[in-house]
Amino acid sequence: MQRKSDLGGLRVAVTGGTSGLGLALVRLLASRGARVAFVARTAPAVEDTARRTGAYGIIGDVGCKDDIFPIALQITGNLGGLDVLINNASSLGPVPMAPLADTDCEELEQALAVNLLGPFRLTKALFGSLAKSANEGTGALVINITSDAAVNAYPGWGAYGASKAALGHLTAIWAEEAKADGVRFRAIDPGDMDTPLHALAMPDADPAKLKRPEESAAEIIQTMRDALPCLTAHSARLTA
Ligand SMILES: NC(=O)c1ccc[n+]([C@@H]2O[C@H](COP(=O)([O-])OP(=O)(O)OC[C@H]3O[C@@H](n4cnc5c(N)ncnc54)[C@H](OP(=O)(O)O)[C@@H]3O)[C@@H](O)[C@H]2O)c1
Repeated sequence: MQRKSDLGGLRVAVTGGTSGLGLALVRLLASRGARVAFVARTAPAVEDTARRTGAYGIIGDVGCKDDIFPIALQITGNLGGLDVLINNASSLGPVPMAPLADTDCEELEQALAVNLLGPFRLTKALFGSLAKSANEGTGALVINITSDAAVNAYPGWGAYGASKAALGHLTAIWAEEAKADGVRFRAIDPGDMDTPLHALAMPDADPAKLKRPEESAAEIIQTMRDALPCLTAHSARLTA
């Protein structure tokens, strides 16, 4: 069993940290000793999550180009650097979900802005800090949250699915290119979870048949630990 503080001192940023999977990640990371900064658009929810978890809350829209550098500066300024970036915030595109023929160009643009360009811009803005962390031996990792809609052609999921497929491929290419800098990349599909986003997309789904976001968050943190050997050494020191 991992000790409560097995992530002690690890600096992690999570986009979309006030609901569903992002909130579960912020809670679990903070409870295990990580220093966490998170982003979301709705000020009262950001303030509430920050108060309850002790994590640093940032109000911003990852789909908005002008917000990216202020978000990145607040992350590194508050955490004093960055070891792990989790690009989790997401847009469904049209709601209710719609066939591509009924999807407005602006709705596709919105899905791409939040699900693809946002992670791309934020990763670029933070890459220097991540590479520094990798160079100093802490290790550095970018986790991009994808979906099974990236690989399965679900009717009605065109804007979301295309944006997540592009995010998956972006992750794979970046993983190859960033090897020299020691920055690792993972694309993770968290599975169908009982969250507000799922309820919006599939209002008739039975929540009892869906994963709890806390379960997916724990799996993602395990993947994070496996990708960062420094954490294994850190844990071994704690349990010695
Ligand atoms: N739920 C599922 O079954 C499922 C399945 C596969 C993959 N996923 C993926 O898992 C991730 C989390 O989904 P979820 O179901 O937990 O979603 P959720 O409950 O709707 O939470 C989304 C979070 O992202 C924030 N957010 C949304 N748009 C944003 C933006 N433009 N800028 C900054 N923050 C933004 C939201 O707060 P504000 O609205 O206040 O900004 C909220 O904190 C997503 O990447 C999703 O695609 C989910």
